[in-house]
Amino acid sequence: MPIDVLLGLQWGDEGKGKVVDYIAPKYKVVARFQGGPNAGHTLVMNGEKHVLHQIPSGIFRPDTINVIGNGVVLDPAVFAKEVLALEVKNVEVKENLFLSNRTQIIIPTHKLLDRASEASKGEQKIGSTLKGIGPSYQDKFARQGLRLGDILSADFDSRYEALKLAHISLLDGSGFDQQELNEMETQFFESLEKIRTFKVVNTEYLLNDCLQKGQSILAEGAQGAMLDIDFGSYPFVTSSSTTAAGACTGLGIAPRHIRKVIGITKAYCTRVGSGPFPTELNDETGEKIRKAGQEFGSTTGRPRRTGWLDLPALKFANMVNGTTEMLIMKGDVLDCFDEVKVCTAYHNEAGQVSEELHYDMARNISRPILHTLAGWPEGLASADSWDSLPSNFKSYCLFIEEKLGVPISFISTGPGREQTIVK
Ligand code: GDP
Ligand code: IMO
Ligand code: MG
Repeated sequence: MPIDVLLGLQWGDEGKGKVVDYIAPKYKVVARFQGGPNAGHTLVMNGEKHVLHQIPSGIFRPDTINVIGNGVVLDPAVFAKEVLALEVKNVEVKENLFLSNRTQIIIPTHKLLDRASEASKGEQKIGSTLKGIGPSYQDKFARQGLRLGDILSADFDSRYEALKLAHISLLDGSGFDQQELNEMETQFFESLEKIRTFKVVNTEYLLNDCLQKGQSILAEGAQGAMLDIDFGSYPFVTSSSTTAAGACTGLGIAPRHIRKVIGITKAYCTRVGSGPFPTELNDETGEKIRKAGQEFGSTTGRPRRTGWLDLPALKFANMVNGTTEMLIMKGDVLDCFDEVKVCTAYHNEAGQVSEELHYDMARNISRPILHTLAGWPEGLASADSWDSLPSNFKSYCLFIEEKLGVPISFISTGPGREQTIVK
């Protein structure tokens, strides 16, 4: 049986959590393959909201096995808090969750390094979530990180101490609060105790055994294609491979097992943090979208930047991911407009029209060429099938499908599980 990969096609926050939760019953396993506590995946069930950061979004489905893969960087303290929040809601976590022993650990000084790095960049800061993502991936690739399997070994504390001291020597110039570090460390070691009671295993064997037994797997992406370390709007990106290929290295699964690549996009664009955003609306329209879409970060609470849908960026994302189907989220947020716009190409700095994304978007400003379509002020709320959707919204979807050449299979009309239309 195959593995399907579900991932964001934009700058994150497309609605991955909602969709994974919705389609999880079709799969035996839901597995996270990259990112860490920078992610914030929101699930809304019976009007109640739950935000997951590191635990896969299949955790609310009692028959689903959830896996935190080797490609993830895990913050034990955030993990312990997430587990507690789920246990309070009587969600079975311990039985249904497996953690890879190869998963990199975010230690407290990674977060201090993240903060110091951003502070040193001033105006050029990435706008990181400050969760220690960049520094922990740096240690992974420098071949000096600590992994979850290591917490079971006798020399873990001394290896931790050595890595911490190496970090402190880097931090010396920028100074840090020893008291704060002490408190973070207390929490860190308490959280490791909790993790020791979980199943920390060779998840590559578990996942490949599932495939061999004919059980299907859903790989849950975090962030989105435009934040990918290679293909995103570098350097304003995250530090992992958010695209489909990342699912193979982040889980230990061969490319030949991938069946569908399910790409998620909002009906418009958002971005949180710094960096280029060609269709950004720094005006009343942008504010209206932010308000209607409640566009505030699920992890940091920061206001998200908003703009019209960017088709050249989506086309690029579909190309590098091999997207086989697209899901359109939050079309209801645009209910408040009589007309909506979509970027179909850019004017580059030389004044030429181009549909290609510049490799260095940050230094080469592209001005969007916008196409206007009729809005759907009657709203999506009452629709429960493709046929009952407002005809202008259907035209909007068909326009996107036609321009991108990828079918739309699913439409989300609101945050709730039930506000979902399969096309
Ligand atoms: P993720 O990181 O991709 O999982 O997305 P987030 O959870 O960070 O952000 C998506 C937000 O949009 C959450 O608050 C969801 O509850 C909400 N949401 C998801 N789908 C829809 C939708 O179709 N309409 C509206 N209005 N909200 C949605
Ligand atoms: P989900 O999974 C939106 C952004 C940050 C920043 C940049 C680098 O919820 O879609 P990092 O903390 O990784 O060093 O930050 O990436 N970013 C996200 N934006 N959604 C996310 O995750 C994000 N994870 C990181 O805002 O611009
Ligand atoms: Mg999010």
